[in-house]
Amino acid sequence: MVCREELVSGTLTISPLHKVFYMIKSRSHSMIKMSTTMAARGNVISPTAIPTLEVYARCGIPLASTLLRQLRPDEQETLTTTVVTPRGSIAAEMHPTLEQRYRTTDGAVRHFLRHRAIATVLEVASGMSPRGLAIVRDFPASLIETDIPKDFPNHKSGLCEKVKLIEGIETLGSHHFLGLNAVTMEGFPEVSQLLPHDEPIILTNEGLISYLTKQDRDTYISNLKGIMASRPGSVWITADFSPMIEQFYSDIIQISPGYAVQHAALKASFMEKLGIDLGEINFPGEQEALFFCERHGFKVTKMGGQELGFSPVSGNLLPPDKRKKLLDVIERAITAWVLELRP
Ligand SMILES: C[S@@+](CC[C@H](N)C(=O)[O-])C[C@H]1O[C@@H](n2cnc3c(N)ncnc32)[C@H](O)[C@@H]1O
Repeated sequence: MVCREELVSGTLTISPLHKVFYMIKSRSHSMIKMSTTMAARGNVISPTAIPTLEVYARCGIPLASTLLRQLRPDEQETLTTTVVTPRGSIAAEMHPTLEQRYRTTDGAVRHFLRHRAIATVLEVASGMSPRGLAIVRDFPASLIETDIPKDFPNHKSGLCEKVKLIEGIETLGSHHFLGLNAVTMEGFPEVSQLLPHDEPIILTNEGLISYLTKQDRDTYISNLKGIMASRPGSVWITADFSPMIEQFYSDIIQISPGYAVQHAALKASFMEKLGIDLGEINFPGEQEALFFCERHGFKVTKMGGQELGFSPVSGNLLPPDKRKKLLDVIERAITAWVLELRP
């Protein structure tokens, strides 16, 4: 049996990628499987929102540093794994993928706000993301942020108020904060009061789908379909599917086996900590992920950096000799998926 140290140090000779995943999967299969649904896991996953904000701040995502400075991350509040250090920061290998995921999602949301007359954005599981604040600063849209912790609405709106004062932000749009469990739909009656009837909306989520069990993922997608079906022309924007595609690793492994193994091992360890089976959440290739969305009645259009024109990911923490090639793969692989209901 291959030990974790070999995986993490990258000293293991790995040729075919499936070996890496075989090892990671055997580890996850040996862990205690949680039959609980996402709703029950919510309390475990919520703390990931703060380390994610730390990554955004380090990557220069607008307003992230100011928002982070308003928080006092407490060690007890964050997960202490090899992925999330005791200081609550996510290991360097994950930064470029998270940054790319943020920028591509953000770029696509802005693209649709600009080019279609959609005036409402519902962000599911927004956590500590600064996106909502940046969007109401820049667009006359109604932005509804939702998440599950009971204190989310007050806590996040208080933080955003402080950031607005510090940054001198005058908002063009209206910013709302509500509790919503995206699987059980607890809290939806209040959210629906802020949604237009019969008019299109933009739905978005980031860093949520990979935490869902298969069953909860089906439930979540059916929930979104219900919201979109009664508002024709709505779009669902997410970059969450891209990092769930294992094929991504076969591309990066060609460039840097050490980086690929480390990234995969970190992800596996993170999911293990959360009690999530990697075998259950990943799609082998893009076709399987697209098929999954199509089976649920969606048409998918992919949008990447070039169409969206955002500044490229810096990748400062990547090995300098491999940086450019790794970034090319990351930028190609992690794109925003725009999902529209097929008629
Ligand atoms: C990795 S964080 C991402 C947060 C934010 N989207 C970002 O990009 O910074 C995952 C978020 O999902 C939220 N979450 C987990 N389960 C949820 C559920 N069933 N419904 C709504 N939000 C959920 C957590 O509370 C947490 O804020």
